[in-house]
Amino acid sequence: MPNSPAHIGRYLLEEEIGRGGAGTVWRARDPLLQREVAIKLLSGPMLGENRDDTQRFLAEARAIARLVHQNIVVLYDYGTEDRRHWLAMQYVKGRSLAKAVSKDGPLSAARTVEIARQILRAIRYSHGQHLLHRDVKSSNILLDEETGMALLGDFGIALLQDSERLTTEGVALGTPEYMSPEQCQGMPLDERSDLYSLGVVLYECLSGKPPFLAEAPLAIAYKHVHEQPPPIQRSELPPALMAILRKALAKKKEDRYSSAEAMLEALDQLGDRNRSPSSGLPVLPAETNLRSGRERRLIDRRRGSRRQDSRRGGDPGSEHDAPSSIPHKQLLWIAVGVLGLVAATFLMVAWFVLFKA
Ligand SMILES: Nc1ncnc2c1ncn2[C@@H]1O[C@H](COP(=O)(O)OP(=O)(O)O)[C@@H](O)[C@H]1O
Ligand SMILES: [Mg+2]
Repeated sequence: MPNSPAHIGRYLLEEEIGRGGAGTVWRARDPLLQREVAIKLLSGPMLGENRDDTQRFLAEARAIARLVHQNIVVLYDYGTEDRRHWLAMQYVKGRSLAKAVSKDGPLSAARTVEIARQILRAIRYSHGQHLLHRDVKSSNILLDEETGMALLGDFGIALLQDSERLTTEGVALGTPEYMSPEQCQGMPLDERSDLYSLGVVLYECLSGKPPFLAEAPLAIAYKHVHEQPPPIQRSELPPALMAILRKALAKKKEDRYSSAEAMLEALDQLGDRNRSPSSGLPVLPAETNLRSGRERRLIDRRRGSRRQDSRRGGDPGSEHDAPSSIPHKQLLWIAVGVLGLVAATFLMVAWFVLFKA
């Protein structure tokens, strides 16, 4: 680890795992609690030169520390080192969504919807606590390789950085590729700005890259404000999913979903409408979820008798197995026939005995 501290606070730095606009991220060890943590060392100039900045930073860090949700990376601790801020967070073993898409290419509609729903739950929760994320992007979404869950990280980090990071070009904090038109224009943000950024992430999942790219941040910002996203050339994607994406990426806030809850509902309905094997969206295991226990037992019994039939030499692949009640009917007719014969014989013998004897 050349030119890097071995410790930050009580944490022992083990490996640099990422570097972004905001700073450097390390996998580290907490020797006290004996667990792995992720340490983020913010690269911006340190806040706290004046009392107001310190108070603002602390207030925001405390708000983030209060967020407890299964789809949000937990903030454990914060401090300063060499006049720079650092944060200790839950270490998520896996890779970021950005890395997953850039390595493996676009995701299926089903996986995209699954990730979107998890991240929307995180956003709904934080908006409920009156906290905007301000930097929703694919590299801030971590995919836990053990559970497959998506976790949103770096809450409020954009705000924790100094206002000096506001670029001289007038572009507000954030990452240009994911910034809403209002954020690009330095206008006030609200919940719908986070939903626009999530729309950019969904577009990236489905097409492989964000909708607006350019060399200069200002050129990207211009596209967010004035241009429509290029169409995604994947005919198999459900039109209803494309409609959700269009609405999330609307230029005017008023044309977007009014809340994370509303967007989540739209995605839930999409799942209900499209649950078919060909839609590419999650298919419910029909006979386990939808049928009653009694129905399931009947189905199992049927399957059992079909399996026995096939062992007896029937066609195992046949969808049109003879109903198992037919042999019983045949037996009944044979029994009726035999009884009829017995009765006829009895009558003949009786007639012979009575009239011939
Ligand atoms: N809590 C964490 N656990 C595991 N890896 C992380 C964590 N936070 C960040 N990372 C990794 O470090 C990378 C850099 O993070 P960051 O400095 O926030 O930059 P950016 O989000 O702009 O890529 C992320 O893309 C991710 O791969
Ligand atoms: Mg980040």
